[in-house]
Amino acid sequence: MNMVELIERKRDGGVLSDGDITRVVKMYAAGDIPDYQMSALLMAVFFQGMKRRELDALTAAMLASGETADLTGIDGVKVDKHSTGGVGDKVSIILAPLVAAAGVPVPMMSGRGLGHTGGTLDKLESIPGFRTGLDNAAYRAVIRETGFAMIGQSERMVPADRKMYALRDVTGCVPSIPLICSSIISKKKAEGADALVLDVKTGSGAFLPGRKDTLALARELVRLGNSLSLATVAQLTAMDEPLGLAVGNWLEVKESIDCLHGRGPDDVMAVVKRLGALMLILGGRTRSLAEGERMIMAEVRSGEGFRRLCSMVEMQGGDPDVLREPERMAFARYRIPLAAPGPGFVSGIDAREIGLAAVQTGAGRTVKEAGVDAQAGIVLMKKRGDRVEGGEPLAEVHTNMPEEHDVIAGRVLNAFAFSQHPVERPPLIGELIDPRGYVEQ
Ligand code: URA
Repeated sequence: MNMVELIERKRDGGVLSDGDITRVVKMYAAGDIPDYQMSALLMAVFFQGMKRRELDALTAAMLASGETADLTGIDGVKVDKHSTGGVGDKVSIILAPLVAAAGVPVPMMSGRGLGHTGGTLDKLESIPGFRTGLDNAAYRAVIRETGFAMIGQSERMVPADRKMYALRDVTGCVPSIPLICSSIISKKKAEGADALVLDVKTGSGAFLPGRKDTLALARELVRLGNSLSLATVAQLTAMDEPLGLAVGNWLEVKESIDCLHGRGPDDVMAVVKRLGALMLILGGRTRSLAEGERMIMAEVRSGEGFRRLCSMVEMQGGDPDVLREPERMAFARYRIPLAAPGPGFVSGIDAREIGLAAVQTGAGRTVKEAGVDAQAGIVLMKKRGDRVEGGEPLAEVHTNMPEEHDVIAGRVLNAFAFSQHPVERPPLIGELIDPRGYVEQ
């Protein structure tokens, strides 16, 4: 196989054969193709897209690059949820233990920060000792014991996605329908789920912000999942402003704990309830969205969701005491408050800009080899629709990098838009897309 020829063919709008795709993925996962050539190919895919047949071959090759978990010994329909990527999106950390507590096992393989969005693995790893790289036996044991497990791609499971995901993160190759679909669905098949709820983000903070692209992504994900016997539905949710108040790894874990104690922001809980209800429907626990939402909230009130999170964290090597007493974790060295320039109403907070500012605080990566700062990030004090007085705090930047203060502060302030008139909050929950292509408002 001549990699240069394949890059040129894709660059010029040609089609790659199943065999070419299988070989490229296998060789890249094995370390036999250098990053610079794989980056060039991914960028060519970004510009030229892929035919459906190429996407199917890419997904199959990524799945075949590692082991697949066998969860047949675990009773019940195993249901997972995955987001296409958002800012402040800590939903998985809240949702998985609640759904498990409501009786549906949740095998969850997540990703790291990608582009301007945060990643569940980076967030969970801010808990001292927490491990996301479990072997198959340990993964099954955690699900059996706590009803859910939260792991990452590894050398053994979907290693191709592990490497390609990290490369896309730092080469501008994230917002591509075939690359997103193959990345998500290969992980979900490998983890052993039977059914999947996708949270497809739409709006300025989504990778594909336009409505047409969002719907195309949702439909392709639903088609691809179901074609691989993964019962898949997609729920569109708004990502115009960050979800909740906290953006950053430990800051988001802390907010997730608040949510599990019933003190979470309304927007986060609205998404948790809707996605949770859909997971309970797919898992056969209810037939009604309203009842599913009530079941999720019952697990918040009983405290069982929080207890399950602590048990899972402990089994995966993390220190559950920091979840019970989050104030034990140190803050970043610099906490810079940002004040409103004048009185008015917040009319928007650009999620993408806040996400990029969070990366600058140290919460995300700009090169593949970099680590992330567990403490860094941004805490919002106001959201769209809130009234502000001049000088009132809008947000706080948390960072350990004093040299970046001013730039980050300016960026966060610029992300806010104001109006002199009251501002409505637009709906957060959009269309639901099922395998028949059915779209429900
Ligand atoms: N989530 C993933 O797992 N992969 C993507 O490409 C985007 C979101």
